[in-house]
Formats: sequence, C-alpha cells, structure tokens
Amino acid sequence: MPEETIEERYCRQTPGSRERFEAGRNFTAGPAKGAYFFSPYPLSFVSGEGCQLQDVDGRTYVDYANHHTVQILGHQHPSVMAAVEKQLQSGIALGGTVGVEFDIAAEMCRRVDTVERIRFVNSGTEATLHAIRLARGFSGKPKIAKFEGGYHGSHDAVEISVRPPLEEAGPPDAPRSVPGAGGMSAGAVDEVIILPYDDEAAVERLVEQHREELACVIFDPKAGILPQRKEFVQAVRNITRKFGVLLIFDEIVGFRIGMGGLQAHYGIDPDLTCFGKLIGGGFPASAFGGRADMMDLLDNSQGPTGFFQSGTFSAHPVAMATGLATLKALTPEVYDHLNGLGDRLKSGLEQQFVDQGVEAHIVVTGSIFSVHFKEGPLANYRDLAHTDQDLAHRVFLSLLDQGYFLSSGLTMCALSSPMTERHIDGLVEAMGRAVEKAQKEG
Ligand SMILES: Cc1ncc(COP(=O)(O)O)c(C=O)c1O
Repeated sequence: MPEETIEERYCRQTPGSRERFEAGRNFTAGPAKGAYFFSPYPLSFVSGEGCQLQDVDGRTYVDYANHHTVQILGHQHPSVMAAVEKQLQSGIALGGTVGVEFDIAAEMCRRVDTVERIRFVNSGTEATLHAIRLARGFSGKPKIAKFEGGYHGSHDAVEISVRPPLEEAGPPDAPRSVPGAGGMSAGAVDEVIILPYDDEAAVERLVEQHREELACVIFDPKAGILPQRKEFVQAVRNITRKFGVLLIFDEIVGFRIGMGGLQAHYGIDPDLTCFGKLIGGGFPASAFGGRADMMDLLDNSQGPTGFFQSGTFSAHPVAMATGLATLKALTPEVYDHLNGLGDRLKSGLEQQFVDQGVEAHIVVTGSIFSVHFKEGPLANYRDLAHTDQDLAHRVFLSLLDQGYFLSSGLTMCALSSPMTERHIDGLVEAMGRAVEKAQKEG
C-alpha cells in the first residue's frame, strides 16, 4: 500500500474540523475570515489554556500562532480572566467612559516615549486609516508612501503593493503602485508612492522627489518576518524628517519586544504610531497615537477642529480592561523570558537546519518568528516572494500532526509567556522531522 501523504494524514486526523468547515462555509463565504483558511480546510478549535489549544477532534497542540500574535500571555491568563469578569459584573457597554480607557491610555503614554495622546479603535485597519487621515489633514498634502510588501490592514489607502506579482512590480529601486484587491477606488494607486525595504538610497531619492505632495511615510518594519537593519529603520526616520514628511510607524505586530515597543528597540521617534493585536488582551482593540499637536486635532471638547474620530465600539470597556491587565502583566521580566525563548528558538532552528543541510532563514524579532525556505539573501519583499511556500505548507501540516500549531505559511508565528525552554526544544526537534518528511514528498 502506498504511504499516506502528509495531507491525507491531516484529513484522517481532523474529520470534525472538515465537517464544521463544510457545514459553515456556504453561510460565511468560506472560512469566516480570510486569514483562518489554509488548505485543504482549517482546524476548528474548542478551547485554549496556557500555551495549548484543543481542536474539535480532541487533539491538542502547542500554540505558536497565538491568534495572529495577540495572545502573548497565552490563553485564559488569570489576570486577563479576572479583568473580564470584573468588567462584566459592572456592565458590558454603558454608553460613556468608565475610567479604564483613561487608565490604559495613561499606561501606553507612560510606556512609549513618543506617544503623548492616544485614541483606541477596534482594529489595526482602523488605526492606520485614522493615522493616515490625520497626517494628511495636518500636513495638507495628498499622498502617502508605503513599503513594497508592507501590510497595514484592509482599506484603499494601504492595500497597495502588499503582495504584487513580480512581473507587475516595476524596477526594484522604484517599485510601481499595484492595487492589492478588487473593488478599490480607481484613484487609490495614484495616491501611494511605493518604497523598497533595505535600500536607503532609493528611499531618500523617492521621498525627496515627492516631498511636496507626501503627507507621510507609513512604515511596517515587518517584525519577525523580514530581517531589518537598525541603520535602515533609523535612515527612514532621518530621511522623512529631512524632507518634512511625517512618519507613521506601524507597530501593530511589533509591540511585543519590550516596554517601549519596537521604536525604543530601534531608537526612533515617529510622529504617529499604530498599535494593535495584544493591546486588547484578546478582545478587539487597536490604537493610534503620538504627537500632542497632531492628536489634539481630534479633541472635540474644545469646539470644532475640523477633525473627528469615533466608533460605536471604540474604547470598548471589556477590551480596555483586558488590554490594561495584559500590559500590566508584561513586566521587564516577562519580556526577558519571551525574548530569551526567541533567541533560543533562532539558534536551535539554525543549528537544526545546518545539520540537515536545509537552506532556510529564521527571522526572530523578540517573540515573533518566521521560517522561510530559501537560498540566498532575504532583505526585501522580492526576496520574500521567492521562498518555497509549498515546502512551508507541507512542513506546517506535518507540524500539526506532531501537535504544533504555527501560522500557516510559517510566517508571523509567536511565542507566549507560559512557554518554557522545553516547548522551544520540542518545536526545534519537531521542525527537523517535519522538514525531512516534507522534503521527501516534494
Ligand atoms: C503590520 C500590520 N498592520 C496592520 C494590520 C491590520 O490589523 P487588523 O487585522 O487588526 O485590521 C496588521 C494585521 O495583521 C498588521 O500585521
């Protein structure tokens, strides 16, 4: 009898997930949200505790995805659960401030030096939308610049050149603006200048060339996905300042590395910053904040300013309470623990792949990591576009078989604080076995 393939084994072990997916897909246009899907069908979970997940078929996994990096404290952390319960007892949504939104705002301003004021919204998409609008209004200039391969959520201003086909992408040092989704406004592409990662000279030339019309550069440093030179990140800040262009730093994923965020790690002072993912402690909350002279344009308590930001569920009490509980639990010791595990994972996987003769890049920023199977350099979007994604997918499925749930594609995976060195070493060994199997099937 021919040996069972990795995918056949996945299907044999997860009939309950298939059944749920097939029953629901015609009502939710597929997987309920795009990012839940992986082929042949996504897993369906019933519970999570600590760093473990359980699926509908009763299988358990160590969770290295952590809900798109959100669950930095793992699942059902006692302080987060206590914050939910306390808030539920007072009421869920009361139609006015309840105090906790001011507490978490003060905590964010205390932690991040450049944030003098902050506004909470429901998603990273909303955070980048409002930050860009504010930058346009404040500067009076119409266009923005973003990096090729940078992701900032799903709205017209930023869903440009996120994953452009290389044949449409233009020259590497002057990339074209390529729309990223059907149905976008026809003018959207003309309003966005595309910059290449890791090329200071090109960034300087393009920002200088468009300085009169550029409101801002929005910069997602792709923490834990693309290696980023500190000098490059600092150059982006210096170039924008030199040419009078605002810098919006997108830390939605990166706000995991330490108390002051990714900007403290790189030593930069953006004008505005976007936050998301973990800041709601597992509930929907994101934020944008920064310079008081910009953010105060949103202060409608002093009369009309011509600017406005609000939202039915913005600064939702439960999300603010769980977010604050999460931030308070993220002490310097917890960051040291997580970042130490990240270092251990990087060196462990690198050694594992050297021993196996596998060409791979392990990118780790704090406690976020990606595994890219690729020969040669990895510095920008075009390098990322040449990674072996079929191999990564087979490795992902084979890791599921061994009880490890990573982000599909093996990019933007994340550690959580309940993990120990034992979990890291277990993943390194499992990765070795998964790659061996996946290569055999290639
Ligand atoms: C860097 C970055 N910015 C913005 C977003 C959008 O956030 P959301 O999915 O909450 O809209 C994401 C989502 O993954 C992200 O990774």
